[in-house]
Amino acid sequence: MTRAATIVGWGMAVPAQVRTNTDLERMIDTSDAWIVSRTGIHERRIAAEHESTFTLARSAAEQALQVAGVQPIDVDLVVVATLTPEYGFPATASLVQDAIGAARAGAFDLNAACAGFVYGMAVVRSLIESGAHRTVLLIGSDTMSRVVDWTDRSTCVLFGDGAGAVVMQAADDGGGILSTAVGSDGAGAGLLIQQAGGSRQPASAAALAAGDHFLRMNGREVYKFAVKATADAARQVMRTAGLAPDEVDLFIPHQANLRIIRSAARGAGIPMARVFVNADRYGNTSAGSIPIALCEALHEGRVQPGDRVVLVGFGAGLAWAAAALTWTAAPVDRRAERPQAAAAGAR
Ligand code: COA
Repeated sequence: MTRAATIVGWGMAVPAQVRTNTDLERMIDTSDAWIVSRTGIHERRIAAEHESTFTLARSAAEQALQVAGVQPIDVDLVVVATLTPEYGFPATASLVQDAIGAARAGAFDLNAACAGFVYGMAVVRSLIESGAHRTVLLIGSDTMSRVVDWTDRSTCVLFGDGAGAVVMQAADDGGGILSTAVGSDGAGAGLLIQQAGGSRQPASAAALAAGDHFLRMNGREVYKFAVKATADAARQVMRTAGLAPDEVDLFIPHQANLRIIRSAARGAGIPMARVFVNADRYGNTSAGSIPIALCEALHEGRVQPGDRVVLVGFGAGLAWAAAALTWTAAPVDRRAERPQAAAAGAR
């Protein structure tokens, strides 16, 4: 029997603070009507001073371990996908590994921007299928509010903060990840970029004065890329997994923008009734977006054992990644019922 990589636990963490479009109307020259018509976003979550990429990642990870029923000591590897790490270095994953008590685990960060979580799924799948690791904690966490320019109306309305995590584990009984795909077009690196703070342009008073530490974006070009990359990547993983579009029970695309999601779903041949959307409430949480959406889809009962799910992320790089999987884990509420049913049967 071949070894498969399955998701056995999941969790999410978003800041309590909500910033609505009306709040933004008071900060910059924009309107709720403009933002909703161009993006479908109504509100986003913003980290409080005490919150950060690490604190959100840790909360999501702890939940995922609890849902999985996995002890931290049994985790072999912690991977954090992020473009807003806690520090330049060390890796945010090392901070999470220590905080949750995963004393045996290796840890590293992965930066594929908003595609990072699905890139992580492709990497972790290989590590599990090869037999190198059995239990891996994969987290997507970003605090975009710390890198957007809150005076730039063309970008700041789009993003929010949040994290999601999954526990991935080896299984010998089928299901799990069926196919993955990753891609990159570095020729588009300048289309979505944080120029300062790296080795090319280290932190300096001049960089700060020029605002080069902020995220900058060519929205129109990124839009065109996003629609095509998402549809193409979805089709690629469906084809490799042997799935027709009408066999996909739920499509979870990166939650950047409702218009992108609609066009990409059309391109992939999947009707909106089978597409998960929560961009309206969180905006674009970058690497957090897909695991947060997966958690909410599970909580809403939109993913059941046996369902075929397709996930696609895209973002700065330019980079994209997709995964098709058969969902295997029982819903949490049904797991909670099981011991009670057993106890009732014993009486
Ligand atoms: N409120 C009001 N007006 C705004 C605005 C805002 N928040 N942001 C931009 N505008 C204005 C522009 O200044 C421009 O005005 P002008 O015509 O007077 O110059 C006008 O709206 C149209 O701008 P345009 O860029 O053509 O809008 P658009 O329809 O392309 O939508 C985006 C802009 C950013 C919503 C869209 O390009 C997009 O979603 N791109 C993808 C972004 C993304 O998802 N990035 C992350 C990928 S991981």
